[in-house]
Amino acid sequence: MKILVTGGTGYIGSHTVVELQAQGHEVIIVDNLSNSEREVVDQIALISGIRPAFEELDLCDQSKTDALFAKYPNIDGIIHFAAYKAVGESVANPMIYYRNNLQSLMNTIDGMRKYNISNLVFSSSCTVYGQPEVLPVREDSPVQAAFSPYGNTKQISEEILKDSVNAYAGLNVIALRYFNPIGAHPTALIGELPLGVPNNLIPFITQTAIGLRQQLSVFGSDYNTPDGTAIRDYIHVVDLAKAHVIAVDRMTKGKGKSNFEVFNLGTGNGFSVLEVINSFEKVTGEKLNYKLVDRRPGDVEQVWADTTFANEELGWKAALTLDEMTLSAWKWELRLQEKRNSK
Ligand code: UD1
Repeated sequence: MKILVTGGTGYIGSHTVVELQAQGHEVIIVDNLSNSEREVVDQIALISGIRPAFEELDLCDQSKTDALFAKYPNIDGIIHFAAYKAVGESVANPMIYYRNNLQSLMNTIDGMRKYNISNLVFSSSCTVYGQPEVLPVREDSPVQAAFSPYGNTKQISEEILKDSVNAYAGLNVIALRYFNPIGAHPTALIGELPLGVPNNLIPFITQTAIGLRQQLSVFGSDYNTPDGTAIRDYIHVVDLAKAHVIAVDRMTKGKGKSNFEVFNLGTGNGFSVLEVINSFEKVTGEKLNYKLVDRRPGDVEQVWADTTFANEELGWKAALTLDEMTLSAWKWELRLQEKRNSK
């Protein structure tokens, strides 16, 4: 099948391209390189032995997006990753987030309608659940008011897609709600490339251990959890990537139960910040300099997924352990350090 991957040089996008290629799909990447590097295309080719087509393009530009669809006829499915994702930045500059994340999605939907492309997989987030009352959280748990403009773009995008499948016959959407994707490809050829000071836990841990940051702040140690630190459902990015291939296959093979489906993608296990740190120290032998500080505003206390629906309907289950996640993240940081040293 011919699959268009928007945001395909980004963190989750690049891992998904590799898994699509491994299953024999032909991939076209579109990315404006606003938060990734062209070199990722070379790295993908090194892993898979196949160079995906690459188009540097901003999907917010409607005429260029139209030209992209015209250039690649007969696309069987689209996996739409392209979006901004920094929570704090979205609070400081909401318009950039609404414009970028929503305009690019709407232009993509317009292109799908005009060029008769039926299937879209959308990158959503467990952020739509806020702090759920019942854990583990199921797909039918209520969506709660978003904590940030970033989170709101995910909720609004799901609404846009729901309205679109209702209005436009033949359109199918699967929204995948990610929990906390971490880790890197086992080859350490692709991984997360945070710009500036990382907001997320794992890149902050690896950058602290490598000496780029002085100390990790553990945000909150007075939560109502066994060790007092917040709990998340961390999932290996390679497991997550594989679920995208299954989701797009489900649609192209017409196996979906409805034209708008939602799946949680997590492991179903919650780990605290201290458990993640312990795993990292154990598998790497590195001692991490960290201190317990106040809670980070906007953080939820604990959330992990009920993955029954994805397990049963997609026949997919996350296989990689927390130790494999933290070790692969460390190998990736070591490779980045090699590159930094050789400059
Ligand atoms: C965040 C976003 C979420 C987004 C996801 C992916 C918020 C509230 N949520 O998830 O919407 O989809 O990133 O980008 O920002 N932590 C520390 N020290 C640090 C960094 C993090 O203790 O330096 C803790 C956090 O408080 C949290 C856990 O580690 O308990 C995970 O944090 P993070 O990796 O930022 O992900 P989320 O906040 O869960």
